[in-house]
Amino acid sequence: MESNNTKQKVFSGIQPTGTFTLGNYIGAVRNWPLLQDEYDCIYSVVDQHALTVRQDPATLRKRTYEAAAMLLASGIDPDKSLVFIQSHNPVHSQLSWILACNTQFGELSRMTQFKDKSAKHPDNVNGGLFTYPVLMAADILAYNAHQVPVGVDQKQHVELARNIAQRFNANYGETFVMPEALIPKVGAKIMSLQEPTKKMSKSDENPNAFILLLDDEAAIMRKFKRAVTDSDGVVKYDVENKPGVSNLMGIYNVFTGKSFEEIEKEFDGAGYGVLKEAVGSCVYQTLKPVQDRYNAILSDKAYLEKVLKEGSEKAIAYSQRLLNKVYRKVGFVQFK
Ligand code: TRP
Repeated sequence: MESNNTKQKVFSGIQPTGTFTLGNYIGAVRNWPLLQDEYDCIYSVVDQHALTVRQDPATLRKRTYEAAAMLLASGIDPDKSLVFIQSHNPVHSQLSWILACNTQFGELSRMTQFKDKSAKHPDNVNGGLFTYPVLMAADILAYNAHQVPVGVDQKQHVELARNIAQRFNANYGETFVMPEALIPKVGAKIMSLQEPTKKMSKSDENPNAFILLLDDEAAIMRKFKRAVTDSDGVVKYDVENKPGVSNLMGIYNVFTGKSFEEIEKEFDGAGYGVLKEAVGSCVYQTLKPVQDRYNAILSDKAYLEKVLKEGSEKAIAYSQRLLNKVYRKVGFVQFK
């Protein structure tokens, strides 16, 4: 990332919470490398956010490396973009405190993710879970990011970051850029292969419901073969009445670039078996090189650590300047 140009900035974060699904890949990771030329991109493995639910320390550490390797394997180029681990840049937590003092209890109480997660883990409704969106706002605002590529479930958090930025600017003078959520239109939502009205999720108890990014060819082909469709045998895009077939078509559309009309023509009279086979093999063809790169990167720890170290050094240098400005504005003493 060059700091002396006028490109807008992109920030996004990914939680190191385990293996990624095809849904994560299509909805998030796959889109990030596409922004590298137009923007200065900053991508972070947000281990501090992951800590809002209980984590086994060794597993968290392992998954943090894996998430970073996945970002690089999917095409993020460390010569163009910054990749680093959130906890390696203390500015995020430092800025988070200032922003927390400019965020209302009521605003945080209204966050749907907080409500969902506290219902799901009633034994661990911790302070971090509550202030999670403030840390996320700090991630974004610390770099004056204009664009924030996220799934639609994170839109409310980006809106909150905007509100906080606006409020701070109004109280202390122009400081933060107003960030915007960048939500992918195509393939934003990949559904379960077993219950196609539900989002694809790796926490589904039926392993046939989701494709993991690291699934081998046999597993991918088998899961698509077993995908739930319907009984009328016509390949037609109709999410309401044919959610299973439409989901397969959506995946095929993302990976081949073919329109739904073209896909309907291609499989006219062919039956679902042929469609499933075609979708499975195009998914495998796309994932195979990502898997190969991922394995190569993970087995070269020295390289991975070098990238992450350089990434955090640049991230710190950039965001520290902004934090100093914020500290000055709020009235913290700064020695010359
Ligand atoms: N909350 C995001 C998620 O769970 C991850 C995240 C943390 C993030 N900080 C961010 C995304 C900043 C975008 C920008 O997906």
